[in-house]
Amino acid sequence: MAQNILGNAELKITPIGMGTWAIGGDWALGWGPQDDSDSIAAIRRGVDAGINWIDTAPIYGFGHAEQIVGKALKDLGGKNRPFIFTKCGLVWDDEKNIAHSLKVDSIKKEVESSLQRMQVDVLDLCQIHWPSFPPGSPDPDLEQAWSTLSDLVAQGKIRYIGVSNFSVSQIKRVQKIAPVTSLQPPYSMLMRQVEKEVLPFCEDQGIGVIGYSPLHNGLLSGKMTRERIEALPASDWRANVNPAFREPHLSHNLALVELLRNIGDRHGKSVAHIAIAWALRLSAVTGSIVGSRNAGQIDGVIDSMDFRLSISEISEIEAQLPESLDMMQLS
Ligand SMILES: NC(=O)c1ccc[n+]([C@@H]2O[C@H](COP(=O)([O-])OP(=O)(O)OC[C@H]3O[C@@H](n4cnc5c(N)ncnc54)[C@H](OP(=O)(O)O)[C@@H]3O)[C@@H](O)[C@H]2O)c1
Repeated sequence: MAQNILGNAELKITPIGMGTWAIGGDWALGWGPQDDSDSIAAIRRGVDAGINWIDTAPIYGFGHAEQIVGKALKDLGGKNRPFIFTKCGLVWDDEKNIAHSLKVDSIKKEVESSLQRMQVDVLDLCQIHWPSFPPGSPDPDLEQAWSTLSDLVAQGKIRYIGVSNFSVSQIKRVQKIAPVTSLQPPYSMLMRQVEKEVLPFCEDQGIGVIGYSPLHNGLLSGKMTRERIEALPASDWRANVNPAFREPHLSHNLALVELLRNIGDRHGKSVAHIAIAWALRLSAVTGSIVGSRNAGQIDGVIDSMDFRLSISEISEIEAQLPESLDMMQLS
């Protein structure tokens, strides 16, 4: 199976990584009820199938996703241990109010907590989750966060450092302090804002790119229907705040799924395979982070790792894509 070098790191990663937002369970930005044993089985199946990295974050379920990753690693008993990529910058208080902090002490505390929750000695990659929150608000603390992360690398607590949801100018600011191994931006057929400026910049600078939500939060899985969307529990954030799951966008998005199904049928591939292959088609993209809630979902995406779309199929898809939705995702 192909593996790609992540930016300046001595890490070779598989084209898809396992995303853990949905396995954070029930929280303010949760995905409805989630069974922990299903989550652990998904990670297990992913590792057995050859996926060699996991993307997580402290905020996913207020530490719960990282704890589940820790349990799954323990179950693996050191065999085929995947690389652990986590994040920092979104914190919470005793009442579970979410805040954003890139202050020195907060970052140090977050990294210690992540190490403890996952029971590992070192984080393979630690990424600043958001430069500011809410997105677009002032970002005065990028430099102190980056210097702190760089110090933690020197102390051996983190191997590499990356950013997520950063613009080119924000990447340039932190690059003056220490190299940026990777960027984690949103990247699906319905979220293409990074194509114009950010991806060319990263490719030019040798910064690895791991795009998130290639299935657009499950909408491009081929299993999402209008009826299922209507029935999503209120505790699933997609029911409330995701515009792609609502009109006026939904009809177009479901028609796009039918085109992907049609292309997939020609190759014996699923809608999800086609959506992931599309997200991996550019040389600037090192990998794509796919969220899976159970082992069956891993089985449903694994075959996309080595599958490539033809140029004419890519054109066929692009002819049906709308202008990218002008929004950033929340987690
Ligand atoms: N840095 C950031 O700000 C940020 C933001 C978002 C995501 N991320 C990362 O990227 C990861 C992936 O993004 P994502 O979880 O938003 O979305 P995604 O990968 O686009 O979609 C994942 C969802 O699609 C459905 N699915 C997956 N495989 C399937 C299959 N084989 N058949 C049918 N349905 C399937 C599942 O949801 P259902 O079964 O519920 O439909 C799953 O939770 C996250 O877990 C997280 O690690 C990072």
